[in-house]
Amino acid sequence: MTKIAIIGSGLIGRAWATIFASHGFDVALHDVAPEAAEAARAHIGRNLQELSGHGLVEDPKGSLARIRVASDLADALRGAELVQENGPEAVETKRALFAEMDRLAAAGTILASSTSFIMASVFSETLAGRARCLVAHPVNPPHLVPIVELAPAPWTDPAVLARAKAIYEQAGQVPIILRKEKPGFVLNRLQAVLLAEAFRLVGEGVASAEDVDKTIRDGLGLRWSFMGPFETIELNAPGGIPDYCARYGASIATMAAQAVGGDPFGAETVATVMSEWPGTQSAERVKRLSDWRDTRLAALQAHKRAAAHKPA
Ligand SMILES: NC(=O)c1ccc[n+]([C@@H]2O[C@H](COP(=O)([O-])OP(=O)(O)OC[C@H]3O[C@@H](n4cnc5c(N)ncnc54)[C@H](O)[C@@H]3O)[C@@H](O)[C@H]2O)c1
Repeated sequence: MTKIAIIGSGLIGRAWATIFASHGFDVALHDVAPEAAEAARAHIGRNLQELSGHGLVEDPKGSLARIRVASDLADALRGAELVQENGPEAVETKRALFAEMDRLAAAGTILASSTSFIMASVFSETLAGRARCLVAHPVNPPHLVPIVELAPAPWTDPAVLARAKAIYEQAGQVPIILRKEKPGFVLNRLQAVLLAEAFRLVGEGVASAEDVDKTIRDGLGLRWSFMGPFETIELNAPGGIPDYCARYGASIATMAAQAVGGDPFGAETVATVMSEWPGTQSAERVKRLSDWRDTRLAALQAHKRAAAHKPA
C-alpha cells in the first residue's frame, strides 16, 4: 500500500490526511506540537463521517484506521512515497523543514509543500535532493475542493512531477501543472484580481459588499462551479472565443486597465465594507459558518460527481 507522510496537522494537514486515507493510502501524521496530531485524528474522523453522509466516502472507519500518528519526523517519513508538508507559512520554516526532510527521507520520496505563496525554488535551492521538491498547493478545505496546483522549481525532475500528478489523481484530486514559477501560482492570482476589484467597487460606493457577493453567488459563480472562464466565453458569442474577443475585448481591456493602482485593502475601504456587514467578526462565527460551508460544498461535490459529462 502506498504510504503518505503528512507533516503539520493543522487545518490543511488534516484535510490531506482525510483525502489520502479515504483513497486507500496509508497515512503517517506528524506535528511538532505534541497533542496536535492526536487532536487532528479526531477531527479527521468527523470529516470522514460527513463525507460518508454525502456518499463521498465508502468506509469512514476503515479510512481512519489507515492513519497513524508518527512518533517523530523520521518515523513519519519512513517508507513514504510522498510527503505533504503543511507547516506555517514562513520562508525560514519551510527552508528548515525541507532541509530536515531532505536529510531524513529515502532518495525516492517526493517532497511537496502546501504553501500558498512561497515558490519551490525559494525553499529547495540549496538542497542535495532539490530535484524531488515541488509545491502542491491545495484550496481550503482540500477534502471538499479537489484542485491542487503543482508548481515545480526549475530543477524539479519531470519524472517526480509526473509521479506526483499520478498520486494526486489517485487520491481523487484535480492537479494542474504550472509550466513556470509565478508567485501566487494560478488560483490566488485569479482570486487577487477579483478580490481587489470587489473591494474597489465597495470602497468607491458603486455597490454594497452584499450585492457584490450576490453577483458572484447568484451570477458568475453558478457557471464557475462547473465551467472555467475560457469555457464560459466560448458560449457567449456565436463564433466562440475569437468572436467574443473581437466583440467585447476592447471594453474588457479598458475595464481591466482601470482596475489597477492603489491599495484596495486599505483601512478606509475595509471600514466601508464592514460598516454594512452583518454580524460581528469572531472565531465562533468563522467556525459556525465554516461548518455550514463544508456541508454545502459536500452536497455540491456529490452533485458534481453525479452530473453528466461535458459533450465533446
Ligand atoms: N489555510 C488555508 O486556507 C490554506 C490553503 C492552502 C494552503 N495553505 C498552506 O498550508 C500550510 C499550512 O496552513 P494551515 O492553515 O494548515 O496552518 P495551521 O496553523 O492550521 O497548521 C500548521 C501546523 O503545523 C505545525 N507545525 C509547525 N511547525 C512544524 C514543524 N516544524 N514540523 C511539523 N509541524 C509543524 C503546527 O503545530 C500546526 O499544527 C501553509 O503553508 C499555508 O500557506 C493554507
